[in-house]
Amino acid sequence: MANRVTINADLAAGTINRNIYGHFSEHLGRCIYEGIWVGEDSPIPNTNGIRNDVVAALKNIKIPVLRWPGGCFADEYHWKDGIGPREARKRMINTHWGGVVENNHFGTHEFLMLCEMLECEPYISGNVGSGTVQEMSEWVEYMTFDGVSPMAELRQENGREKPWKVKYFGVGNENWGCGGNMRPEYYADLYRRYQTYVRNYGENKIHKIACGPNNDDYRWMDVVMREAHWMMDSISLHYYTVPGEWTAKGAATGFTEDEWYSTVKKALWMDELITRHSTIMDRYDPNKRIGLIVDEWGTWFDVEPGTNPGFLYQQNTIRDALVAGVTLNIFHDHCDRVQMANIAQVINVLQSVILTEGEKMVLTPTYHVFDMYKVHQDATLLTTSIDSAEYAHKDQKIPQVSVSASKDSEGRIHVSLCNLDNQSGADVEIDLRGLTGLNLTVSGTELTASIKDAHNTFEQPDAVAPTAYQAFSVNGTTISAKLSPMSVTVLELIAE
Ligand code: AHR
Repeated sequence: MANRVTINADLAAGTINRNIYGHFSEHLGRCIYEGIWVGEDSPIPNTNGIRNDVVAALKNIKIPVLRWPGGCFADEYHWKDGIGPREARKRMINTHWGGVVENNHFGTHEFLMLCEMLECEPYISGNVGSGTVQEMSEWVEYMTFDGVSPMAELRQENGREKPWKVKYFGVGNENWGCGGNMRPEYYADLYRRYQTYVRNYGENKIHKIACGPNNDDYRWMDVVMREAHWMMDSISLHYYTVPGEWTAKGAATGFTEDEWYSTVKKALWMDELITRHSTIMDRYDPNKRIGLIVDEWGTWFDVEPGTNPGFLYQQNTIRDALVAGVTLNIFHDHCDRVQMANIAQVINVLQSVILTEGEKMVLTPTYHVFDMYKVHQDATLLTTSIDSAEYAHKDQKIPQVSVSASKDSEGRIHVSLCNLDNQSGADVEIDLRGLTGLNLTVSGTELTASIKDAHNTFEQPDAVAPTAYQAFSVNGTTISAKLSPMSVTVLELIAE
């Protein structure tokens, strides 16, 4: 059966906030140390200690926002340990992640310098679980106060005269779990108290993000919204795609057909989670002033054999590319509520876009999806519908194809299509309505593979890479496309 897609080029459904293409970097495993920070004396080419290759790769995908320092690490992090001369900074054990030494060489100045290099917005997660109100308040003052104050003077002593611009600030992380094991009632009260002292200084306006639920914890959402909605700008949601159980998640490569299927099926659950959480938010915020920020999402598999279990290092295959593609399509669909999302995590941890080994760097299939999809950043979402064939496995069924379409500021339409089936191709008929011109020029890019765990290695970095897509024909305003099995395709349409 053909999959039928209708795209209404003249019916806007909202704006796709570029921050949906955000990333997350935690002091976890080899994300910060080795992945980003190598130090000024490293033989790996760097600028002020930060890897040049990684900065160039992230700039290429137009990284809009980067979250730091955690994750669970955030509620154990005391920011004053990470300022001042590096040799004098405290050395400690990263008790949460792998029990390794944290030398605090990457701190506030280094993170904000990284964001300046990447030309992206910083998103800082503050410590509610084990930190004080004063500590959080002083951090904001240190970063953003332009005047005479103890924290501004301390910042200047440490070499930064002018404050930084910091917009996004999270008041705690996973406070229902690693961030303090709180009840939503208790967290809501703490949120109200802590956020009072997260101040706007001068022109700097902080966008305050409350800690939201895990997965389908609808009660958490309801209570925190009920008790504090008027004091927040956004609330977070965390959902990871785990093919198996938490105790036996499944391998990143060499997985079974069942595991492929459960992975892509579970990725689709994001749609229901956002829909139901948004419905609760609508009760307290019908005008949708408050954003839902999915600031941790992505695949979570068993770690690569022989690696530190606390480092969460996993390979990344064409299956991850499909998870990324359908999840980003889902975020587009909910762009009225989802204002930001941050895939976990940017380098060497969970569903990374980049893996490194010493001086070597490899771009993962997930990276290529972010590269292909960057055309959607800040574009107008177009009203689109799909009548998809079914992708059945044993007694289960899901739609085979996922689609999203947007129009950019120059009038170009981009259509992203994911075929979740790793064995069957998909015929897709795209009916375009409301075009401004009838002379249609179509081009495309495809990411696919011939085996379901195809991935890039340091020896074969381009095993999974985008290629020009030509398996389509155009007849008037209809495009007939043949999608390869397990593929992500982005079409560009210019109507003149
Ligand atoms: O991304 C890894 C961890 O997952 C984060 O530290 C935590 O917030 C979540 O449980």
